Amino acid sequence: MSRIVYVNGEYLPEEEAKISVFDRGFLMADGVYEVTSVLEGRLVDFAGHMARLKRSLAELDMAMPVTDAELEAIHRRMVADNGIEEGLVYMQITRGAADRDFAYPEGATPSLVLFTQKKALIDSAAAKAGLRVATLPDLRWKRRDIKTVQLLAPSMAKMAAKAQGKDDAWMVDEDGFVTEGSSNNAYIVTKAGTIVTRHLSNDILHGITRKAVLSFAREAQMKVEERPFTVAEAQDAAEAFITSASSFVTPVVEIDGTALGDGAPGPVARRLREIYVAESRKAAV
Ligand code: PDD
Repeated sequence: MSRIVYVNGEYLPEEEAKISVFDRGFLMADGVYEVTSVLEGRLVDFAGHMARLKRSLAELDMAMPVTDAELEAIHRRMVADNGIEEGLVYMQITRGAADRDFAYPEGATPSLVLFTQKKALIDSAAAKAGLRVATLPDLRWKRRDIKTVQLLAPSMAKMAAKAQGKDDAWMVDEDGFVTEGSSNNAYIVTKAGTIVTRHLSNDILHGITRKAVLSFAREAQMKVEERPFTVAEAQDAAEAFITSASSFVTPVVEIDGTALGDGAPGPVARRLREIYVAESRKAAV
């Protein structure tokens, strides 16, 4: 079924939407994006996604093409026009169309594109079964904290994991420490029950779900350590999981062929998923 998409001020059937051949998003991956989940037709942690969007834009010296209120209204209309009860809203902002040059163009008008995806986020097969991940070298650039549309390295990692028959990739830096998943943040739970996830830096995306989940974990008196962990430490952990707007909290049951614990989703991941879903339902706007 054809979706309604938003492109630079217009709401159009996806077949009719157009973007310039000279758009720098297409030529140079000169753009940023956000993905906001929708539960019961409402936006989850929209303020968090907008805050990170502004940070990404500022790091790339790009302006917001519309006001905050307009962007929220566009999100809402996308949800309504596409009848999204549960799913995702993708929003992309590029520097816009300009003659091809490595220098940022003066006065280009940013492009703003939104589209939706219907997705069963709560009743997810991956959440029930848990994911099997393969570790792969992290081939990305050094500003992974900026949510840009240059996604080929994680896409290649995911394909390499799938070629091994696995569900997703965990990317690993030169020193053997896990950075994050192909499109999610990565966590382990030690045998002593401590949740470990890499600290915030330019090495990883500062996940909006990560922030919420760590705060719920601390509120529930769980011990949290923000530090790097190796693949070997992860394989020896009691359990593991990922977080993202599109997966919420999803257990990981196997890393490079080594089953974690009894090979089933662990209790910490399951509990955090329940808390995250309940709190997100309450707070969605
Ligand atoms: N991905 N790390 C990476 C590399 C990501 O691409 C994402 C999100 C996350 C989690 O961030 P958040 O909790 O804010 O969704 C971490 C989105 C969902 C995507 O590209 O589809």
